[in-house]
Amino acid sequence: MQANALYCGDCLQWMQRWDEEGIDLVYLDPPFCTQTRYFSSHDDALRPAFRDVWRWDEAARSRLQNLLTSKDASLRRAVEGLHRILGDVALTSYLTYLAERLVEAQRLLRRTGSLYLHCDPGVSHYLKVLLDALFGQENFRNEIVWHYQTGGASKARFAKKHDILLFYSKTRDYRFDASSVPFARTEKALLRARHRRGARIECTNTTKLPMDVWSDIAALNPMSKERVGYPTQKPLALLTRIVRASSRAGDVVLDPFCGCGTTLQAARDAGRRWIGIDASRVAIETMREHRFKDWEMPVFSSECSVG
Ligand SMILES: C[S@@+](CC[C@H](N)C(=O)[O-])C[C@H]1O[C@@H](n2cnc3c(N)ncnc32)[C@H](O)[C@@H]1O
Repeated sequence: MQANALYCGDCLQWMQRWDEEGIDLVYLDPPFCTQTRYFSSHDDALRPAFRDVWRWDEAARSRLQNLLTSKDASLRRAVEGLHRILGDVALTSYLTYLAERLVEAQRLLRRTGSLYLHCDPGVSHYLKVLLDALFGQENFRNEIVWHYQTGGASKARFAKKHDILLFYSKTRDYRFDASSVPFARTEKALLRARHRRGARIECTNTTKLPMDVWSDIAALNPMSKERVGYPTQKPLALLTRIVRASSRAGDVVLDPFCGCGTTLQAARDAGRRWIGIDASRVAIETMREHRFKDWEMPVFSSECSVG
């Protein structure tokens, strides 16, 4: 495994080749099980980037069989239970796909390492069952709610405006430093502090530590300067918070579903080493063309899909 490099292909195949305990932080932002195809926009042209379409098929059945014969008894029980609840359906196919990759990500982590799985609230409860089985419930650290204010509302239900990030550590002895990612108190909070008797904060105390609901990081709007044209791109501020809180300078950060490389940029900017994997050639091209023009980096390729 070489750090500061991109790997094109299925992250399962790459991760399976690598020795265990070489990674300090894994952030995964896989497809969310939306049954949609995603396109990147480049010079006003749309190119297929990746598919998030699932069905119960032979491949899913074979993944299920593999997981049911895993050496890890708690993982076996979790997968068996989920299959029993859900049956032979698209969602079980999705969960088995992610389970195989989460097994490898967990294996690669050092004992002081952490993993963040970014997922949709519609599936996060099933994924939490899998992660509890893999990491042990005692190593569950946070369910982070990333709340954003994008346009669009619904009359049929309350508008869906948050993602879930499940944070686990490999052991109890993990690296974490929330004080390295303070965020600015709002003007309103500072004013209140200045004028209210018995206020709990000093008006000179302009920052505070993040809690498990993050509403201060905006989703990228279509006009954002940060946009590189890749669908589902996450804001750099989100990844910077995770990288800085859960790794130290020189540590190795892995993103197995790196898309247009937001995590890799956050890691590099913070002085970490980084490894990015993506199955989409469009993702790799987008990173090289738009985000990392000046970077000297090897790209290892197995089989890339177009989208
Ligand atoms: C939600 S996007 C990630 C977006 C990314 N966080 C960003 O900020 O750009 C999911 C990515 O996973 C990739 N992907 C899907 N299946 C994969 C697999 N088996 N191995 C590697 N990458 C995969 C897709 O090509 C897509 O780029």
